[in-house]
Amino acid sequence: MAHDFDRITERRGTESNKWRKYDPDVLPLWVADMDFASPPPVVRALRERVEHGVFGYGPPLEQVTELHELVAARLERLYRWRVAPEAVVLLPGVIPGFNVACRMLAAPGDGVLLQVPLYPPILRVPGNCGLAADTADLARGPDGRYVPDWEAFEAAVGPRTRVFLLCNPHNPVGRAFRREELERMAAICLGRGLAIVADEIHGDLVFSGHRHTPIASLAPEVAERTITLLAPSKTWNLAGLKCGLAVIPDAALRARFHAARADLVQTVNILGHTAAVAAYRHGEAWLAELLGYLEANRDFVVDFVARSLPGVRVAAPDATYLAWLDCRDAGPAAADPYTFFLGKARVALNDGRTFGRGGQGFVRLNFACPRATLAEALGRMRRALAAA
Ligand SMILES: Cc1ncc(COP(=O)(O)O)c(C=O)c1O
Repeated sequence: MAHDFDRITERRGTESNKWRKYDPDVLPLWVADMDFASPPPVVRALRERVEHGVFGYGPPLEQVTELHELVAARLERLYRWRVAPEAVVLLPGVIPGFNVACRMLAAPGDGVLLQVPLYPPILRVPGNCGLAADTADLARGPDGRYVPDWEAFEAAVGPRTRVFLLCNPHNPVGRAFRREELERMAAICLGRGLAIVADEIHGDLVFSGHRHTPIASLAPEVAERTITLLAPSKTWNLAGLKCGLAVIPDAALRARFHAARADLVQTVNILGHTAAVAAYRHGEAWLAELLGYLEANRDFVVDFVARSLPGVRVAAPDATYLAWLDCRDAGPAAADPYTFFLGKARVALNDGRTFGRGGQGFVRLNFACPRATLAEALGRMRRALAAA
C-alpha cells in the first residue's frame, strides 16, 4: 500500500530540534531530518524490541552482526562494490566518524581539504582536530549548478594536506558528483598522497537522471585509502536513533580507526541497531516511494522559486532534500535572507553564512515535509517579499 507522505504529523512536544528551536508560529524548514514517519516495518521492529523490555548491551564492536551483512550485501547490489562484512564499522553517527577519521589520518598542523560552501559540522573538523582548513571553492555556473573548480582544488592541496574530506552527495549544493568528477578527485588525492574520508550519508537520496557513486567503489587503490561514512538515518529518517556506519576495506586502516575511537566513540545503541536492520531488510519499497515524493517536492520548490520569488534563484538539486537558494538579488532579503525570512515570513531556514565561504546571501531550505507544509512556507516567503 502506498505510504501517505501528505499526512501531517505533529512533532512539537517530541523534543525535536527542528520543531522546538523557534516560536510556535514559525514553520521550520531547516535541520536535515524529515517530517515523515519512518517505514512501518521499522516502527514495528522497534515496537517489538521495546515490548521485550530489556535494554542491556548489544554486540561488541569486533563482532559481525546481521547489520554488517546487510550493509555489505546492499553495497554490492547497488554499486557492485564488494566489501567484506568485517569492513563495516558501527558508529553512533557520521559526525563522530569523520572527526575520528581526520584526527587519526592527520597530525596537528596538517591540513584537510574541503570543498566550500559546506555542511557546518564538516567545516568544524579542522578546529576540532587542530588541523588547517585547505579549502577549495566550488564553481557555480550561470544556471546555479555547482561543479568542482579543478584549479582551486589542486591549488588547495599543499605540502601539509593529508586528507580530503569529501561530501557526496554534497550538502548544501545538492550535487551527486558524476563518476568522471570523482575519478579526477581520486586521481589528484592518490597523486598527492592524500587519504580520503567520504561522507556519503545522502547517497540514497538521489533523483532520476542522477546516480550515487561511492568514491571507494572506483578502484581497489582508492578503496584502500578511503574511509566511507554512511547511515540509514537520512534515508529512513532515523537520525535521533544515532546509528552510523563506516566502511573501511583496508584492514590496517580499520585497525587504526578502531584504536583512534577506542572508548571515546562507542557503538550504536540497541534501538538504533534494531531500526537499521529493519530498514535495510524491509525499507527499499518505502524508499522508492519517498524518492518519488521528494522529487515532486523538489520540482515544486524550483518551479515556485522561478515563478513567485523574484530575485531568488535555485538549481534543482541532483540529490538530498535540501535546496540552496541564492537570494543575492532578492531586494530586501538580499543582505540577510535568513533573518528576513524568519522575521517577515516566519519560516526558519539555514543561514548560508554558516556553510562558510560562498554562503553569504544564501539560505538552505529542507523540502522533506508534506506538500501542504512546503506550499505554506513558500507562500509565506512570497508574501514577505511582495510586502517588503
Ligand atoms: C553531510 C552530512 N553528514 C552528516 C550528517 C549527520 O550525521 P549523523 O547525524 O549521523 O552524525 C548530516 C546531517 O545533516 C549531513 O548532512
